[in-house]
Amino acid sequence: MTTDFLFIVFIALLAGQSIVLHGKHPGNQHISSPQPEQIHISRTGDQSEMMVTWTTLLRPNNSFVEFGVSGGLMNTKVPAKISRYVTCGKAKRVIYIHKVKLTGLLPSTSYDYHCGGDDGWSAIYSFSTTKQDSHWSPSFAVYGDLGVINAQSLAPLQKEVQNGRYDAILHVGKHIHRTIHLQDNSRVGDAFMNQIETMAAYVPYMVSPGNHEHHCNFSNYRRRFSMPGNNSGIFYSWNIGPVHIISFSTEVYYFLKYGLQQIINQYEWLKKDLEEANLPENRAKRPWIITMGHRPMYCSNVVGDDCQNFENKVRIGITSLKLFPLEKLFYENGVDLEIWAHEHSYERLFPVYNHTVYNGSIKHPYTNPRAPVHIITGSAGCKYCHDKFKRKNAKWTAFRTLDYGYTRMKVYNKTHLHLEQVSIDKNYTVVDQVMIIKNQHGPEAWKWKQPEPPPQRQKRPKVEKLRTSKKSPFDELAGAKNILNDYIKQMKSYKSAYL
Ligand SMILES: [Fe+2]
Repeated sequence: MTTDFLFIVFIALLAGQSIVLHGKHPGNQHISSPQPEQIHISRTGDQSEMMVTWTTLLRPNNSFVEFGVSGGLMNTKVPAKISRYVTCGKAKRVIYIHKVKLTGLLPSTSYDYHCGGDDGWSAIYSFSTTKQDSHWSPSFAVYGDLGVINAQSLAPLQKEVQNGRYDAILHVGKHIHRTIHLQDNSRVGDAFMNQIETMAAYVPYMVSPGNHEHHCNFSNYRRRFSMPGNNSGIFYSWNIGPVHIISFSTEVYYFLKYGLQQIINQYEWLKKDLEEANLPENRAKRPWIITMGHRPMYCSNVVGDDCQNFENKVRIGITSLKLFPLEKLFYENGVDLEIWAHEHSYERLFPVYNHTVYNGSIKHPYTNPRAPVHIITGSAGCKYCHDKFKRKNAKWTAFRTLDYGYTRMKVYNKTHLHLEQVSIDKNYTVVDQVMIIKNQHGPEAWKWKQPEPPPQRQKRPKVEKLRTSKKSPFDELAGAKNILNDYIKQMKSYKSAYL
């Protein structure tokens, strides 16, 4: 036993603290059984699949998902891939992440499932698959900055999700507040993941990385969630109904200590993904392109964040060379809607590009907008309460509120997308809503104008025809002369006969 260790023991005893020793289960000695917890599902990119992910604090002897069509037997059993995760904190606590990909799922079908094994099973949950075509209307709960502390929106969201209101949840960053705080060693992360299980075990929980997930190069985020693609959920895309959703990391622009390569990889991938999404056959099938990233390009808050700066990094790129600018890339590829969080408030912007408002028209700003629409929805409720607004609205601010709340989004069809903001402060009422209407998508949409109605064939005005004689006046005169001559001849014949 070293002198240093004895000194630590002495200080700890003096402070009345217990000491956690690293043994067989570092940081988890108090756990006696590897029970499944933190259960959540996510889309894989293939609509006939669903990913199930959960955690155990100890390593179980075996691990499976058993599932089947709701109402029947859960008689399909799939083994899990188990990975050991040493959490990012001083204690180097070890937890186990379990992943199972369910395949061959039928469209529009409800499934029951549970996960676990010989050491213990979870409760039974259910989820529904969606239609596989693009002719239906998906609904989403959308928010960012939902924490373990002060999770104001949690209860109404739990209720709505469990009532089947949504087809997916989009959590736009900052999930695991203080995840790797040196004193909690990712236990807040466990608490957060258990908190969202009440929603995420029922509908796909799709996430973007936020600034609070940055520790150890986003290892908590990368390991705990299972997003589509091969990029650890830092950037990915997926399709649902008439929508192509792209999630990306704004954090690669700010945590340059993890290397520039992450920005390059993401930017190149974004270009490729947008190019593919804009292929005529793809855009015809899924005309709506929606992006979700944590830190906004614009905001009217007063917290000193980069979104207040005219030359925002995400918007115009980094360094004096303005490398990897996203506003231009998204505009040139006809992104319809950009969803952000980070600011603990809600703000809806008019269609905007390069700080200029491009409304569809004065009366109908969101009907055929001539630039992408932005919303910032970071007021779900977290430890840091609200980020106050500047006194005056920005020219591109359409509506803003500091009320706690979350956004509902429904994509009705290829032309109509509806957003509404629920206020917790105002007793769960809708305090803002907008319908985005687009008759055309893609970069060409920015020039879209109501087509001129086709010219109607005009009837030629009726011209009253003058009744004209083909005979000339002289002919008529000649005719009259002949009649007169005949009359004289006739009279002469009367005279010779009777007189
Ligand atoms: Fe944030």
